[in-house]
Amino acid sequence: MKHRIVVSRPVPAPVTERARTEFDATLAEDRDMGPDAVLQALADHDAEGLFLSSNLKLDAAMVAALPAHVKVAATCSVGYDHIDVAAAKARGLVVTNTPEVLTDCTADLAFLLLLNACRRAGEYGAIIREGWGRSFGMHEMLGIRASGKTLGIVGMGRIGRAMAQRAGGFGMTVLYTDTQRLPPELEQGATYYPDLRAMLPHCEILSVHAPGGAATDKMMNAETFGLLPKGAVFVNAARGGLVDEDALIDALKSGHLFAAGLDVFRSEPNFDRRLDALPNVFLTPHMGSATFETRVAMGNRALDNIAAVLDGKPAIDPLWT
Ligand code: 8YV
Repeated sequence: MKHRIVVSRPVPAPVTERARTEFDATLAEDRDMGPDAVLQALADHDAEGLFLSSNLKLDAAMVAALPAHVKVAATCSVGYDHIDVAAAKARGLVVTNTPEVLTDCTADLAFLLLLNACRRAGEYGAIIREGWGRSFGMHEMLGIRASGKTLGIVGMGRIGRAMAQRAGGFGMTVLYTDTQRLPPELEQGATYYPDLRAMLPHCEILSVHAPGGAATDKMMNAETFGLLPKGAVFVNAARGGLVDEDALIDALKSGHLFAAGLDVFRSEPNFDRRLDALPNVFLTPHMGSATFETRVAMGNRALDNIAAVLDGKPAIDPLWT
């Protein structure tokens, strides 16, 4: 007997194919299922497994509403700030995520944001699309050099470390802060600051890679942006909740920040449109993991987790043990 599952978000074709072959699956065909549709599908299908993504909130109410036959919820994301862990734990639900498989692509995108923000790629793209039409003098439309700068990394987990590795190729000096110092073999020569505020004045570029949630909410705010040196560049491919966007907009408008590169926003997909009205931002729509290879790997990892749990084995990536 195949395990019965619901896949609440459209996934790349190889993942759909596998879900159809190896499982008895109800799949979101061409658009995301909302919470009510998910609950209905789980009940109608007598499903034991839920494949979800970061767009579906598994909050306390949703956990309470899950039919009793649901044993495992596998989020197709590394972040799990959309999940109420305490409620899921208390309900006896196994919850898994997809670490490792999206590290490189997310760091690639964060570095893309970094380079594009430093080198004014958003503005250059707009000039080209408007027909260019006049050559620029040696003094005009200048960006700032990225190579050789001092990069501060907030959160030296897998993605933060992949960012540090990329920074090494650009001759950057890397500083980092995290709740704990890493063992030297993982530090890659980066300098540890136990305190974010002590690190910020040294960061010509700052990239945040911390998880979302209450503990990190608005960690970048008027005070912390103010501690960065004038002309710094800010990069966020982690979670929009880390940032007080009013403070970010003020810092970008005043010129305290030279530019920002952002993939994530406090509100998604309907983000604060004051941001894209600014010339000195380079924005992407939460696409850190969005390559074919990575999205297939994420989907497979979520299915692997569901299969393990429903086969009576330990989950591969449980959120708690
Ligand atoms: C998105 C992410 O969840 O893994 C994460 O934490 O933020 C992303 O990979 C992605 O949009 C999955 O739908």
